[in-house]
Amino acid sequence: MSATKGRTTSRDTILRAQIPSLESDLTHMIIAIDGPAGSGKSTVAKLVAGRLGFHYLDTGAMYRAVAHRALSLGLVLDDEDTIANIAATDEISFGHEPGATLPSIVRIADEDVTAAIRLPEIDEAVSAVARMPHVREAMVAQQRTLGGSDDIVVEGRDIGTVVFPDAEVKVFLTATPEERARRRAAQQALTGISVDATGVQDALLRRDSADSSRKHSPLVPAADAVKLDTTGLSLMEVVEAIASLAEERQS
Ligand code: DC
Repeated sequence: MSATKGRTTSRDTILRAQIPSLESDLTHMIIAIDGPAGSGKSTVAKLVAGRLGFHYLDTGAMYRAVAHRALSLGLVLDDEDTIANIAATDEISFGHEPGATLPSIVRIADEDVTAAIRLPEIDEAVSAVARMPHVREAMVAQQRTLGGSDDIVVEGRDIGTVVFPDAEVKVFLTATPEERARRRAAQQALTGISVDATGVQDALLRRDSADSSRKHSPLVPAADAVKLDTTGLSLMEVVEAIASLAEERQS
């Protein structure tokens, strides 16, 4: 995937001009899955994509990649112009592990940041980056390009409201804070990061509050999203519910 390219002195105009149009295309289906951290989005979105044979796009990984690049260049997180320039010019791409059907490798400016973007310091930094309007414009442009022509499951915070408001299926996943912290801690433990459950829950709630209260594209369900509380549900129950919605819309 190509990110928007070319440094420019009138970045705003260029970014706006590059945001692909949203003319509806009846030849493919978009499933938008939004929700807070730890709501099960990633696991569910990947399983739904696998079940239906759809492509998959993790938009949170894109914001994480920009935050990682900013930190690795030694930028301070209020340097909005330079960080927006990274978002507009440093190419983000997704790759597959050998034999995998869904992409899991994340690169920015040719650097593999797959593991680095999951570290706690990126959890802490990413909301500051994700609230920058010009960063969001650049990300939305890339997301529309990536998701615009295939059957795809796209997960994030603003997919049903901003990125693909005409998505055929929109789901907003939630779960209690305790359950979300438990899932996130289990996920981090798998990658070998040592975690303390209270710290994980505090960090999640801080990030939810930052994501929900920001001015641009806050984390809110689309008016026409199906809201699904996953707390008492098994993974497969959630996957089946979303796959059924997709099958209903397809028929
Ligand atoms: O889903 P995640 O935890 O990997 O997302 C990382 C951050 O990016 C999170 O703070 C919210 C933000 N984000 C966003 O603002 N919009 C999206 N479409 C996806 C993620």
